[in-house]
Amino acid sequence: MNIQTASRLGQVEEYYFSRKLREIAQMRAEGKDVLNLGIGSPDLPPAPEVIETLHQASSSAGNHGYQSYNGIPELRQAFADWYRNWFEVELDPNTEILPLIGSKEGIMHISMTYLEAGDEVLVPNPGYPTYSAVARLTGASIRHYNLEADKGWFPDLDALGQEDLSKVKIMWINYPNMPTGTPASKEFFSDLVDFARKHEILIINDNPYAFILNDEPLSLLSVPGAMDVAMELNSLSKSHNMAGWRAGMLAGKKEFLQDVLRFKSNMDSGMFRPLQMAAAKALSLPESWYRDLNAVYTGRRSKVFALLDQLGCTYNTDQVGMFVWAETPEQYPDGYALSDEVLEKAHVFITPGGIFGSSGTPYIRVSLCSTEAVFAEALDRIKSAF
Ligand SMILES: Cc1ncc(COP(=O)(O)O)c(C=O)c1O
Repeated sequence: MNIQTASRLGQVEEYYFSRKLREIAQMRAEGKDVLNLGIGSPDLPPAPEVIETLHQASSSAGNHGYQSYNGIPELRQAFADWYRNWFEVELDPNTEILPLIGSKEGIMHISMTYLEAGDEVLVPNPGYPTYSAVARLTGASIRHYNLEADKGWFPDLDALGQEDLSKVKIMWINYPNMPTGTPASKEFFSDLVDFARKHEILIINDNPYAFILNDEPLSLLSVPGAMDVAMELNSLSKSHNMAGWRAGMLAGKKEFLQDVLRFKSNMDSGMFRPLQMAAAKALSLPESWYRDLNAVYTGRRSKVFALLDQLGCTYNTDQVGMFVWAETPEQYPDGYALSDEVLEKAHVFITPGGIFGSSGTPYIRVSLCSTEAVFAEALDRIKSAF
């Protein structure tokens, strides 16, 4: 039987990592021990009290039913406290916070809520591939805006403002930026809110890396007036080592969140209550949690710098987030060529920057989600293979 897929899937390809993981699995099945330095899935566990909360709560008979579509009040309150404590942003836990099953699904919900054929959406190049993949599913047209090293990896809002933006409904931004490791800037956020107001564009900041190797967590919503024109996604995946748990949130004004909930409430039926309780616990962790986490990432990052030096790559040492972004040396045509050669010769997988868009083609991205011992082993292999 040959069942045709819906035409909306026509342009959407299988996620790059999904394909690459299959290739790596195949190499491993052939007996090759591949070190995967590609994916940003934290290898460290959540805090013990978070796991204990999940454990306790899931032992209680009353905690296994369907949950409300907008999360338990304790979780919304915990997100509100987290935003007040770390970002100096006041959010009403009853109306301005929507818990999500990870921020990735939020990208889908927001896109399905607002975008359709005839609309345009501004997407960063390079950027997280989901913004474009989901936009394609909605039928909207993607307009890439370039992030370039010589502009500090920020969009040129003046140049963008000269273009006809009348069909643009949404602009995705992501600071701290993945993959370039650029921290957020108050000045840029403030310019962005002016830009959004002037051009009547809804801005969404995707903010999952605020706490990783970043001294100053910043929220777009801290800019006065931002709530009128912007929303923000956040996540416990990286900040609390809970990527597999699927816990995130969308913050924004009541009317926006009600729009999004109209779509989302037709897709899922809430999050497992014990998980929400454990997520609330995670959000209340003291500063030492983030300090300890970042001490580990700092040690790893110096190993990654050594590995990149060995490959002849160049990079900024003041990057933030869970990756190091580095420019490929001249003898390689692009990051794909370097990535392929390192995989083939040293059995080490490094992400080619081109998967994040054409502006990322000369780059590679190394994840910090492996132990120092793994990075040392990768360095040894690269030293002997090259
Ligand atoms: C920029 C960016 N946004 C969103 C996500 C998805 O995060 P979550 O686990 O909250 O869905 C990722 C994950 O890698 C990411 O890099």
